[in-house]
Amino acid sequence: MNFKKINLAIIGSGRWGFNHVRTAKSLLEANQITVFDTNKAAEEKIRELNSEIKFTSDISNILSDESINAVIIATPAETHFEIAKKCLESGKNVLVEKPITLHVDEAQKLYDLSVNNNLKLMVGHVLLYHPAVLKIKEEMESGKIGKLQYIYSNRLNLGAIRSEENILWSFAPHDISIMQFFTDSYPTDITAKGEDFIQNGIEDTTLTYLEYPTGVRGHIFVSWLHPFKEQRLVVIGEKGMYVFEDSLKTDKLKFYDKGFKKVDGEFQKFDNDFESIEFEAKMPLGEEHLHFYNSILNNTTPRTDGKHALEVLRILDSATKELKKGKE
Ligand SMILES: NC(=O)c1ccc[n+]([C@@H]2O[C@H](COP(=O)([O-])OP(=O)(O)OC[C@H]3O[C@@H](n4cnc5c(N)ncnc54)[C@H](O)[C@@H]3O)[C@@H](O)[C@H]2O)c1
Repeated sequence: MNFKKINLAIIGSGRWGFNHVRTAKSLLEANQITVFDTNKAAEEKIRELNSEIKFTSDISNILSDESINAVIIATPAETHFEIAKKCLESGKNVLVEKPITLHVDEAQKLYDLSVNNNLKLMVGHVLLYHPAVLKIKEEMESGKIGKLQYIYSNRLNLGAIRSEENILWSFAPHDISIMQFFTDSYPTDITAKGEDFIQNGIEDTTLTYLEYPTGVRGHIFVSWLHPFKEQRLVVIGEKGMYVFEDSLKTDKLKFYDKGFKKVDGEFQKFDNDFESIEFEAKMPLGEEHLHFYNSILNNTTPRTDGKHALEVLRILDSATKELKKGKE
């Protein structure tokens, strides 16, 4: 695919935004990229990476530049709404980092703006561009594990803690987005519990339980107060199970031929060895960029479009209300 028609602006080049800049540089010519950050010091880092990447400290230089047709927003979450709104109002296609906004009504406004102006609105739920996650989805759809029954995700680590958001908003958007992708439906019930052991009022550990209309159930356990890093996704079906552990060096994705079947009215356990499943060695963030560029050039709907982003945000919002309820 030829991406010469993409002119990209990246807003926010901090810890994660700089990964976007590096990724864009690997896919586009440097002169197709403009970076905007309110922190002038960010300019030096961009210059070191490539002197041809343009840098501005004034957003109007991006909004008024008609040649810029794609914007990636990687600023702190509380700024997403205002920046994304300005970009959509100026006719730009937008990829905004997770969480799309802090409030459901704001995300709804962005979604409406994108639909009314015929622009792409995509959210950076990067795991839906991970080849292992796509592989599980593909195999599930081919019927390999039969009826989907239970999904759970552990996203655990020892810090770094954030003070502007709790662990649910920091980590769980990724897991919720996977649940939505695998179930293709919206939960009928959401319950959540959480504790703030480190910072008063900011949960560092939460457990969210989701019930889907199809009978699928699942939970998400996220914490930044945990002795080691673990990113484990377990998907259980009536004919087999997947385990995806991105925190491992090898055998990240496994299929377990295990479960129970009824033979002559009796339950029989099948408990065979696991097989390691190969998947394409592609960088999820690079895949996310390519998906965004292609959706603009081919006018296709992104996998993590505004509708998907709104669903994930609604689930976060419901889980947050549950966390507060637990404290009353
Ligand atoms: N998809 C993922 O896996 C992933 C991973 C980490 C972070 N994120 C998300 O990326 C976003 C940024 O996180 P981070 O860790 O890079 O934060 P950060 O604080 O390291 O960087 C934010 C950058 O934005 C700049 N900035 C702040 N306000 C601005 C404004 N109004 N206009 C322009 N620039 C502004 C800051 O100067 C800074 O350089 C957050 O929404 C976060 O949730 C996503």
